[in-house]
Amino acid sequence: MTKDQKQYRIEFMPANKAGHFSEGITVRDAALELGIIIESDCAGIGSCTKCKVEIKEGANSPTRIEEQLLNSRELTKGVRLACQSSVTMDSLCLIRSNPIADGEKIMTDGLQAQVSLNPDIQKIMLQVAPAKLGEKYFDFEKIVEALKHLGYEIAGYNFQTLKDIPVALRRENYCVTAVIDQERLLAVEPGDTTQILFGVVIDIGTTTVAAKLVNVATGDVVAVNSAANPQAAHGADVVSRLHYIIQHPGGLKRLNSLIIKLINGLIINLADEVGIETSEIYKIVLAGNTVMQHIALNIDPRHLAQKPYTATFQGPARVDAKSLGISINSSGVAYAIPNLACFVGGDITSVLTILDLDKQRHYQLAIDMGTNGEIVLGSRDRLLCCSSPAGPAWEGACITWGMRATYGAIERVEIKNGEVSFRTIGGEPPVGICGSGLIDIVCGFLRAGGIDKSGRILNLAQLTNEYKNGLGDLIIDKVKEGNKLRITGIGGESESAITVSQNDIREIQLAKAAIAAGVKLLLEELEISPDEISSVYLAGAFGNHILAKDVLELGLIPQIAPEKIKFIGNAALSGAEAILKSREARIRAEQISQKIEHMEMADHPRFQDYFVDEMHFSTNDGK
Ligand code: FES
Repeated sequence: MTKDQKQYRIEFMPANKAGHFSEGITVRDAALELGIIIESDCAGIGSCTKCKVEIKEGANSPTRIEEQLLNSRELTKGVRLACQSSVTMDSLCLIRSNPIADGEKIMTDGLQAQVSLNPDIQKIMLQVAPAKLGEKYFDFEKIVEALKHLGYEIAGYNFQTLKDIPVALRRENYCVTAVIDQERLLAVEPGDTTQILFGVVIDIGTTTVAAKLVNVATGDVVAVNSAANPQAAHGADVVSRLHYIIQHPGGLKRLNSLIIKLINGLIINLADEVGIETSEIYKIVLAGNTVMQHIALNIDPRHLAQKPYTATFQGPARVDAKSLGISINSSGVAYAIPNLACFVGGDITSVLTILDLDKQRHYQLAIDMGTNGEIVLGSRDRLLCCSSPAGPAWEGACITWGMRATYGAIERVEIKNGEVSFRTIGGEPPVGICGSGLIDIVCGFLRAGGIDKSGRILNLAQLTNEYKNGLGDLIIDKVKEGNKLRITGIGGESESAITVSQNDIREIQLAKAAIAAGVKLLLEELEISPDEISSVYLAGAFGNHILAKDVLELGLIPQIAPEKIKFIGNAALSGAEAILKSREARIRAEQISQKIEHMEMADHPRFQDYFVDEMHFSTNDGK
């Protein structure tokens, strides 16, 4: 700030936070400095309109971009884009209900792995013989020897442990508990604390972050929590985050701080919920796509942004949690599940750990439908993986009324005889539409004839008589509101009604085409037909209630028998839980990461052609 730069007060409601900022700072950056995250799917370049706020007092003239993207009614009301509008006077800013700031429920359930409790992280009680005069006695070596006697080899230790040992040994009359993880002595605690051992698993999604607290002594999940990834303020997908890092000095540090702060917040909430100290948590297992893993470990991922798309590490990475700034026990360890390829990350490795695709005689397909779609197809003979830039549509980003699968999200929509019925998560009043609701809407309108196979919203004149009566209301609404489908019965006045626009449908088409084209290329590479796939596993935090017939009608996967499709929820989080609880699962994850083959889609000669082909929807007869 220069000496003459003016300062203005800006107050944000309903967050009830205020601060003084230099003239010219954008409303979005001012909010961020106060810890308020405004959704910003386009990372602030001014194209998504997700950062709309209402400036009640002190609104300045709209910029050219705001004039283009906001209608006159909004502009008159003081609606502005937080990324474009800058502070030039004292202001009062109203932020629309924002699931990033509000408490939310993100899907944390998933297919559960059947693993026996045999964790790498362990506590072993030792009763060590006290020192005797004249004996050659070293505290540390005595402990290592006692562990060896019980069958535990120690190949390394934390330096702090060495300092703590003398006091720990003598406090409880030479009874101590050793904490070890993969042959490393992490800590020595006085007395018998073997029943107090916790671990945390985190699925770091591009859009959402989910966490579980596990009592490692019993294997029970004792608390679950989740939140939106605050990095979303700097772009909705991994490519925007990479560009943010490349274009902004300190960008990596900023994104890293955001995720570490969030992880620490989740850990504190989990610990508070069950009344434990965070120091009782000794291990954290991280599952995330390759970019998210790099950022969480504060490792520069910028070379992933351009050819030949090089990641810095595959992993697994096993580091002191303290060095990452993660607030568990100061001797605790963080384990990042190995990535498979440049954009195929530890999250899908985690999914594969509990699916056993690599052990099956028949071909199986697994898709993690995150913002970055990750696809694996194969059998015990050969496993192939690829990533596909699906974008964040499944998680509600870049969709006019899109939102994550959280309270108030429309997750189920049925269109029958011109009547629209819907259900929201938690039975709350509707505030937006999550991935499963969007799929329902698109499929419902496809079936009813409101959208054609190319994804075009039809005019009333183009509808067949069969549909004209039933869809009358919807189509009339469409005519009134321009090229949009209004979901009748949702919202109130036309201006606040929840709608699906032509652009929203295009976003869904882009997301589904990316996945479908990836699957097609993997099938070709393995020289198999869709009929030869015995099971399709769909993982993702996009909602709970997608129907197999909708997935087929959308054309997301090739036409196969619906009963072969299994929805496995947030399986990345379940896989991470298995890896925390079982050494065998951890070893399997590491083995899978070594034997899987990667196919690069970005430069594949047929990817673009297939992508364009797959933009079309299938019909319900599968054509
Ligand atoms: S228009 Fe502001 S973040 Fe996209």
